[in-house]
Amino acid sequence: MSVLHHAYLDAMGIQVWQRRQGVQAVAQILSSPVVQDLQASAVSPSLPVIVAPHQQLQLPAEWGALEAGIVNCNRCELHRQRTHAVVGAGSRSAAWMFVGEAPGADEDQQGEPFVGKAGELFNLMLNALGLARQDVYITNIVKCRPPGNRDPHVEELASCAGYLQQQVALIKPRIIVAVGRIAAHSLLHNDLAVGVLRGKEHRYSDAQTPVVVTYHPAYLLRAPHEKRKAWEDLLFARSIVSAS
Ligand code: URA
Repeated sequence: MSVLHHAYLDAMGIQVWQRRQGVQAVAQILSSPVVQDLQASAVSPSLPVIVAPHQQLQLPAEWGALEAGIVNCNRCELHRQRTHAVVGAGSRSAAWMFVGEAPGADEDQQGEPFVGKAGELFNLMLNALGLARQDVYITNIVKCRPPGNRDPHVEELASCAGYLQQQVALIKPRIIVAVGRIAAHSLLHNDLAVGVLRGKEHRYSDAQTPVVVTYHPAYLLRAPHEKRKAWEDLLFARSIVSAS
């Protein structure tokens, strides 16, 4: 593990083991029993794969039309107060797709997902995996900011669902990481707790894209003791990408 990688994990509040003597010698987190168990179960054929029901969608399957559709969207009330609709950021040919809930105040101002406080932790989590923002695709379930950062309403989720389906169809990611409760519920069509949904491989859409659920960085900022689980979720996702 590089010193930089160690620093990221440290910044995320994930404890790494050090030799008693030697400042930089850090035990490989990947070789820890916890992570090895996790990875072994990830490739185990007995692991249940959970397939969510989904709607059929007519796709324009073209980025220009899709982006124009999102930035000019007025399908729900959220368009009235937005500064920017936030389409997404990163590589359109990414293996990894991260899906959050909805833009917050910073994202609404800047037109980019995960750029506020939660975004800073999100970036550290990506970096700890050896990924940068431009290597992955990052978007949200809902493309416009709900006022006061309230949960999106059902009709707002429904209005936006097609946009994400189209983004997934265009990008064809090898893994979707559902970041937080709203993303997980919306992608998987259930209302189970993140603690129940994480650690399993779910599937999304006709393409049966693997989905892994993890905690939202805003939650991790309030509950830093859960960061280790989020790290395990990312390693689980990486084991799926590596096996695909
Ligand atoms: N929270 C989210 O879920 N998405 C963002 O883009 C920012 C904060």
